[in-house]
Amino acid sequence: MQTSLPHLFSEMALKTLTLKNLLVRSATYEAKAGDDGRPANLYLGFYRRLAEGGVGLIVTCLAYPDRYGKLPRAPGVEDAGCLQALSAVPASIHKVGNGCKVALQIGHTGRQVPHIVPDGKPVAPSPVFEPYSGITPRELSLPEIETFIDKCADAIDFARRAGFDAVQLHAAHGWLLSSFLSPHTNRRTDIYGGSTQNRTRIMTEIISRAQKRVGDDFPVLVKMNACDYAEGGIELPEALAIGKILDDAGFAALEVSSGTWETITRDPQVIGWKAEPIAEARKRINTVKDEAYHREFARAFKKEIKGARVILVGGLKTPALMEEIIAGGDADLVSLSRALIREPDLPNRWRAGRGTRAACVSCNLCLETVVEKDGLRCAVI
Ligand SMILES: Cc1cc2nc3c(=O)[nH]c(=O)nc-3n(C[C@H](O)[C@H](O)[C@H](O)COP(=O)(O)O)c2cc1C
Repeated sequence: MQTSLPHLFSEMALKTLTLKNLLVRSATYEAKAGDDGRPANLYLGFYRRLAEGGVGLIVTCLAYPDRYGKLPRAPGVEDAGCLQALSAVPASIHKVGNGCKVALQIGHTGRQVPHIVPDGKPVAPSPVFEPYSGITPRELSLPEIETFIDKCADAIDFARRAGFDAVQLHAAHGWLLSSFLSPHTNRRTDIYGGSTQNRTRIMTEIISRAQKRVGDDFPVLVKMNACDYAEGGIELPEALAIGKILDDAGFAALEVSSGTWETITRDPQVIGWKAEPIAEARKRINTVKDEAYHREFARAFKKEIKGARVILVGGLKTPALMEEIIAGGDADLVSLSRALIREPDLPNRWRAGRGTRAACVSCNLCLETVVEKDGLRCAVI
């Protein structure tokens, strides 16, 4: 089929994995798994619709390698017992997706705990007060960090054995791995704190231990912040240094995002978590100029990062803009979350030359729907 978006609809390799196009579904928490972390019909149906819609790579919502860092009704990847339930996800995506690939996002909530953890104390690299949840977390001990690294490496192995094509470590938005990277939340004085290299060590340890189990070719992606917007937090120059360490360590792609729970109140657009009236939202990402709000960050990453692919996420709605971003070399791939909640078939429509801008108005009311019985939906349609 001829397309007017030749860059967007070209193939790309992530290590040995070939993606059919450069459109990624960015990880989106949908609260559709069971309370036990098993993804069943509701979950599978949601992912089938995304796969049928034509996107090249789906990144799932945050799956937990440790139940004390889980989001309610998120999928679990805690032990080998989850394998059978989990394997239904890639199986059903591969069945209907016409070449669509799927990466399991793995992460831990850390200090931004949205629910009560059993001992009442969420964990973090350091006991730094978290104003959004009003909690001061407990500092992880060295043996606990070692155990967590092993759990993440195991989870990557479980994901591969369950049939996922790749995994993504969630090290953005202030969750546990993100809080290790950031000097604002990581005040440790041992080998996991201090220098940029030390704060990134948890990530390089996870990938190196995982690669012993899954080999070097299995693509491990990362989502990370180019800027925390927090005083004493990560800013672009340090994010680039972290990106280089991750690139050297063998990560296949870096998805460039920004912000944390503490800082969305300052700039709610950055990660799209704060719900607001639709009329207000329409004022924000309303024109092509308002889209791609991480483009400058992605461009800086593209200049510095030589091996890993760079994925741009944030406010993308217009296919011609995405085509221009890729063609101009500002990113290797583009990633969409909210637009695909409302219209999962956008990639097919764009490929066929039908329709232009995504209808999503970035009102973020979808965030509130995750507490409903069936989880995430577009609150506008
Ligand atoms: C409802 C909702 C849930 C999200 N859940 C996750 C998640 O589980 N993991 C993640 O990395 N980002 C998550 N995000 C952030 C998105 O992946 C994305 O970075 C952000 O929404 C900006 O992209 P967009 O403008 O295309 O929506 C979520 C966003 C929304 C709106």
